[in-house]
Amino acid sequence: MDALIAELAAICGPEHVLTDPDVTTGYATDWTRRFRGHARCVIRPGHVDEVARVLPACGRHGAPVVPQGGNTGLVGGGVPASENAVVLSARRLRRLDPVDTLSGQVTAGAGVTIAELRAHAARAGLEYGVDLAARDSATVGGTIATNAGGIQTIRYGPTRGQLLGLEAVLADGSVISRLSGIQADNTGYDLTQLIAGSEGTLAVITAARFRLWPAEPPTLTVLAGVPDIEAAAGLQTEIEAAGLALVRVHAGLPAPLEHDYPAYLLTDAAASDEDAERLVELAQLHDAVVAMDTQARARLWAYRERHTESISAEGIPHKLDVAVPLARIAAFRAALDSLIAKADARAIVFGHIGAGNLHVNVLGPEPDDDSVDDAVLRLAAEHGGTISAEHGIGRAKTAVLHLSRSAAEIAAMRAVKSALDPAGLLNPGVLFLPPGGRPPVTPPPS
Ligand code: FAD
Ligand code: MLT
Ligand code: ZN
Repeated sequence: MDALIAELAAICGPEHVLTDPDVTTGYATDWTRRFRGHARCVIRPGHVDEVARVLPACGRHGAPVVPQGGNTGLVGGGVPASENAVVLSARRLRRLDPVDTLSGQVTAGAGVTIAELRAHAARAGLEYGVDLAARDSATVGGTIATNAGGIQTIRYGPTRGQLLGLEAVLADGSVISRLSGIQADNTGYDLTQLIAGSEGTLAVITAARFRLWPAEPPTLTVLAGVPDIEAAAGLQTEIEAAGLALVRVHAGLPAPLEHDYPAYLLTDAAASDEDAERLVELAQLHDAVVAMDTQARARLWAYRERHTESISAEGIPHKLDVAVPLARIAAFRAALDSLIAKADARAIVFGHIGAGNLHVNVLGPEPDDDSVDDAVLRLAAEHGGTISAEHGIGRAKTAVLHLSRSAAEIAAMRAVKSALDPAGLLNPGVLFLPPGGRPPVTPPPS
């Protein structure tokens, strides 16, 4: 037997080292099917101490480690690129402590799903502030590693905003643990926030301490047809006409409104009765439907949440997740339409309009053809935007990181990476362009 696999089996138990290609292929293929690799094996530690022994073992054998949670990431960061890589699945790290109702906090293991965490908080009358359509698979560890946004970002902020501390294992096997939940803590570098958003390149997250919010579920949801994206820009969530039509085909849903529109807005509100009345009146100025109970709200949300699967049912999408200032969103959108038309591609655009975040899903180009990706991301940068609002850089955007980060910033980030992971054990090829990778596109004029 492979000496590394024998060592990993001794640490975690042979049943938690997966080598059968029929099983490992799923761990080596991303959700979109655009990024496919090969895993030497999948290791499934069940405790932080096992993670602390697994990482040095992989280091001794020169095997890169790709941390993985629910494998719902959309930029290829959780799947291996090299044949030699070990996928470290954190899904067995399932600690879920009782909710501390005094502080309004909870500690959860990296493998707990967002749906489980939200349900756990709800049972204590509290709410976990992040929610997303991938809630049944996306994990605590993966959402921290990508600093996931989601459908409540405007209200509560992204995952970083919920995070009070974490437990993580560095490449050399050392464990850092800040799970006390003390918020008044001014003792040097904030390692928790450094690891958040690091996409598995700095540490394996094993648990986290989160703040929770008083549960104030939305009381109504409005779906309105609007003339264009600018009209949508004041509210929270926009779904484009083409996307809604696709969802209707793939999810078999009826038309939500009497007429079809170029753009749609979906927005939740947690309103007092008086405010709710005002919102309903406002909605009546547009062609809109208002849902005021849980089931009716879920029916409207299905038009938004089933976009991702409906797009993937049409082909392998290039998922570009940009944000531009709200004031420039209409200009960006017009330029985008002309770029996509010239490229003879098809774009389905939806997103989180309140955050200026547009998910540009391009269908048509081959999975390894990045030319339209580069052009769209460059366009976002030219409009004062960012090349990733919530999905991260992963493997998909390493060559264009410089469109959103200065040379000094990238150098500082590389210095941090080298200090914490000098051998480049954790997730090589994610976030930073690998040596010999494709040359970066020319940066936009500053
Ligand atoms: P994975 O996909 O397994 O991994 C993602 C990254 O995190 C990889 O780089 C991986 O190496 C790293 N990682 C995973 N676990 C760990 C760990 N324990 N320690 C260190 N690194 C780790 N994203 C949003 O931001 N907002 C949305 O609204 C949203 N909606 C989605 C809807 C659908 C239907 C789908 C399929 C995806 C959606 N996503 C969204 C993207 C995805 O769900 C998020 O990126 C999520 O955070 C990934 O979590 P995961 O557990 O699946 O991580
Ligand atoms: C969403 O907002 O639904 C997600 O980010 C998923 C996607 O972009 O497909
Ligand atoms: Zn999103």
